[in-house]
Amino acid sequence: MTQQYRITLLPGDGIGPEIMAVAVRVLKTISEKFDLSFEFQEALIGGAAIDATGEPLPAATLETCKKSDAVLLAAIGGYKWDTLPRHLRPETGLLGLRSGLHLFANLRPATISPQLIDASTLKREIVEGVDIMVVRELTGGIYFGQPRGIFTTETGEKRGVNTMAYTESEIDRIGRVAFETAQKRSKRLCSVDKANVLEVSQLWRDRMTALAIEYPDVELSHLYVDNAAMQLVRAPKQFDTIVTSNLFGDILSDAAAMLTGSIGMLPSASLGASAPGVYEPVHGSAPDIAGQDKANPLAQVLSAAMMLRYSFNQPDAATHIEQAVLKVLDQGYRTGDIMSEGNTLVGCQAIGDALVAAL
Ligand code: IPM
Ligand code: MG
Repeated sequence: MTQQYRITLLPGDGIGPEIMAVAVRVLKTISEKFDLSFEFQEALIGGAAIDATGEPLPAATLETCKKSDAVLLAAIGGYKWDTLPRHLRPETGLLGLRSGLHLFANLRPATISPQLIDASTLKREIVEGVDIMVVRELTGGIYFGQPRGIFTTETGEKRGVNTMAYTESEIDRIGRVAFETAQKRSKRLCSVDKANVLEVSQLWRDRMTALAIEYPDVELSHLYVDNAAMQLVRAPKQFDTIVTSNLFGDILSDAAAMLTGSIGMLPSASLGASAPGVYEPVHGSAPDIAGQDKANPLAQVLSAAMMLRYSFNQPDAATHIEQAVLKVLDQGYRTGDIMSEGNTLVGCQAIGDALVAAL
């Protein structure tokens, strides 16, 4: 019997719609090949939602997402909405989606494909063979901690406040995802914190250390976040799986992404205990190149592959997409962000054509 899946598409802003169109073409092609049936439902988020409804995450969008088997998101944000008050900004919509679906675990793989080694700003011998998985906590920490706000002190001065806080159970559940992820990889887990300064990080470190007893096959190490940032660009191959809090994970995952040549190549999965997962590229909406057919759709396509693997348990279809991506790179097709000498510069749609042909 044909497996049926309901997918909510959130194209969002900037290059979002163009790269989403390529991912949908790829999914339609793969569905025929693997006898899967996808029902696509498009919904509004980010700036597009603000323009249409006045809010970055309309209630209808969250409802549609909750009723689907998985959510494929492109990117949100742009200059046009940058000056709006915080509760009306596109980013607030994305954060609302993450917390509304309880997606506490964000998996961000940074793998370098041999074809792109020369696109990296780092030396070949440093990045060749890099294969890192960043497990970022996504619904807690300083992104959501209370109190927060800009308050006025007794002397009439303004004071900005955010709170970095984690409970034991919040640390344990992301810790378990990380240990289990490391078990499926090369069984090395590095927990990143700032325990030399922050109490919240001390608790994080204590819980990770306690959890390690339950996973004797995983080798746990700890690094302070400043050192981790340095080690990522100095000797990235020492890392396998990294687990860290929301803010540190935001920063380190961008750094890890650049090891691979371009942030335009990296997918991510945001998962919770039960709600549908959200799959999105690590990169943003790139408003500077939006609508010009210049965007790299590969991170979006690889996010669709992650969706097939993690939410639909269709590893063969996922692998097939990942191999098509490699084939297109082998053929020398490149968007501007990953262009290097001897290759062919093409646009977003042409990459889509090549992918469909490769599938
Ligand atoms: C990310 C982004 C978001 C974040 C922004 C757009 C809110 O940078 O997904 O990494 O900070 O989490
Ligand atoms: Mg980020």
